[in-house]
Amino acid sequence: MVTAAQAPRTLRRARITSLATYVPPRLLTNADLEKLVDTNDEWILQRTGIRERHVVDPGVATSDLAKEASLAAIARAGLTPADIDFIVVGTTTPDMAFPSTACLLQAKIGATHAWGYDLSAACSGFTYGLTTAAQIVAAGGSQRALVVGADVMSSIIDYTDRTTCVLFGDGAGAVVVEASDDPEIGIIDFENYVDGHGGHALRMPGGGSLHPASHKTIDERLHYVKQDGAAVFKFAVRNTEEVCRRLLERNNLDGRDVDLFVSHQANRRIIKSAAEKLGLGEEKVVINIERFGNTTAGTIPLALNDAVNDGRLKRGDLLLIASVGAGFTVGALLMRWGLKETP
Ligand code: UT7
Repeated sequence: MVTAAQAPRTLRRARITSLATYVPPRLLTNADLEKLVDTNDEWILQRTGIRERHVVDPGVATSDLAKEASLAAIARAGLTPADIDFIVVGTTTPDMAFPSTACLLQAKIGATHAWGYDLSAACSGFTYGLTTAAQIVAAGGSQRALVVGADVMSSIIDYTDRTTCVLFGDGAGAVVVEASDDPEIGIIDFENYVDGHGGHALRMPGGGSLHPASHKTIDERLHYVKQDGAAVFKFAVRNTEEVCRRLLERNNLDGRDVDLFVSHQANRRIIKSAAEKLGLGEEKVVINIERFGNTTAGTIPLALNDAVNDGRLKRGDLLLIASVGAGFTVGALLMRWGLKETP
């Protein structure tokens, strides 16, 4: 006889119940970059869509940005940090190799009942973190999970390399994920894949076990982001579309059914091209890269936050999220949007 304790858990539907973001106050504009490298506002704007990005002051780390976003998200969910039982931090720029930023964050916010870890998926850090947390919540393994996408990209950017330094900024977003009490609201499905053959196209070679820090790795500037921009661009355009198409088709949907598309913000041209191929009109596409640049794991929550604040993302909307990042990592999620309404 199967007892209650042995019975399989019934999967619940997980949903994002609150959202908050944080960017450091200091701005790095295209005009500022003109003073550092041979570039100009027109090129940056036309080729990427970026006007400015936020960067930290010295001494401010990823966990600091994550803390601000997390505390606000937890409060908006009507919770306290002690209510959080699981933390996943998607980041490419952890405060240090170890302990994980999730552990540092747990202490900084006082999430006394949480366990957690960092997730390394570059620009797909938030997408993969949300997928992971949603599955754990759906299986009953967490009641209130905190998913953070946070990066201090300025800590690994070479401000003498014009091909990368114009692209990135710093920022963080956090969401609380809980079981949905409304069958209409919540995460419906996800699609993720990786293509490790593309690893060489976007990486930071130094500081790991292959090239531990040494005078040589510093002289060779291996502790900075290296990118084959054209290769990443091509892969991103093709796979942003591909992953969304797979996810929509599996759910018998197409672009017409989607109310809002929130993609990773790496380049305005990538987002527009993928959206066009998916048959998504401009009114369904969120682009805020002009104000933040590419904040890696932070872009999707930053874009969601803007969409909520300007009224474009409403309760019951069918939301499609997608990301392509270093690895290559590719991910997409489909959900019916609905934040918890707290008094
Ligand atoms: O989150 C995932 C991570 N990253 C991405 O998704 C980025 C994907 N890639 C891209 O967004 C684009 O490839 C870039 C924005 C990086 C580059 O744009 P592009 O249109 O592919 O330019 P390009 O690399 O083909 O370069 C065109 C020209 C080159 O000059 P020549 O060789 O034609 O004389 C570059 O040297 O533009 C030059 N260039 C610049 N000029 C002014 C490259 N960077 C700059 C710059 N300012 N910052």
